[in-house]
Amino acid sequence: MRGHLWIWALTLAASAGVFAACGSSGGGVATAPHESSTVPSVSSTAAAPAPSSTAPPEDINMTAAMFTNIHRLTKVRHFYVGNLLGHLADALAVANDPKGGVYPVGTIIQLVPQEAMVKRRAGWSPATHDWEMFSLTASATGTTIRSRGAAKTVNAFGLNCASCHSAAESQFDFVCETTHGCAPLPLNDAVIKQIQDADPRPK
Ligand code: HEC
Repeated sequence: MRGHLWIWALTLAASAGVFAACGSSGGGVATAPHESSTVPSVSSTAAAPAPSSTAPPEDINMTAAMFTNIHRLTKVRHFYVGNLLGHLADALAVANDPKGGVYPVGTIIQLVPQEAMVKRRAGWSPATHDWEMFSLTASATGTTIRSRGAAKTVNAFGLNCASCHSAAESQFDFVCETTHGCAPLPLNDAVIKQIQDADPRPK
């Protein structure tokens, strides 16, 4: 078995070396055939119409590595908000508006390290107000995604996210807090803070 490990280690090291060599010293050779083909494509790009209705809508397809320690997000009351597409100010404006609103695409909201909702493009899932629901495992080495999706996603206890969050009054865009119409969690604020502070991922 040890022999196998060594073979893997050597294979990985060797392929890493090969890729590094391609990126650095191989650059000049690799760009030569490209250059002839980029000349016509540059001129056709210049003639192309300005991006308009044909541009794909902004969206975000999370990978596990995009989740971080929740303390890197912005705390609002007792949950954490971020935006991975540069719309943090808009997201915070909605979070801080007592009348609610629709969160911008790319917003991530977490109450605890193990659950997150992330706003997808408009129309992605009307049943969840376009939120993608995530059940996560957080450890000192990072995040793994246990499950993800829209209306069918369940948390680590097998409870369906949407069945609780859909009780939020519609102007609050699936965000429950304590006053938006959802049944309260059986956790008081002190316990929630303990769970938040125990996020094991690097700050
Ligand atoms: C048993 C019902 C229930 C389930 C199941 C549930 N939640 Fe929640 N969730 C709540 C309630 C209630 C709150 C508000 C708690 C508070 O603020 O004290 C909340 C808070 C949150 C928040 C912070 C923003 C907000 O709505 O207040 C996020 C994000 C969140 N939940 C995501 C999820 C995800 C993702 C899942 C599934 C993986 C999930 N929840 C499962 C009831 C639930």
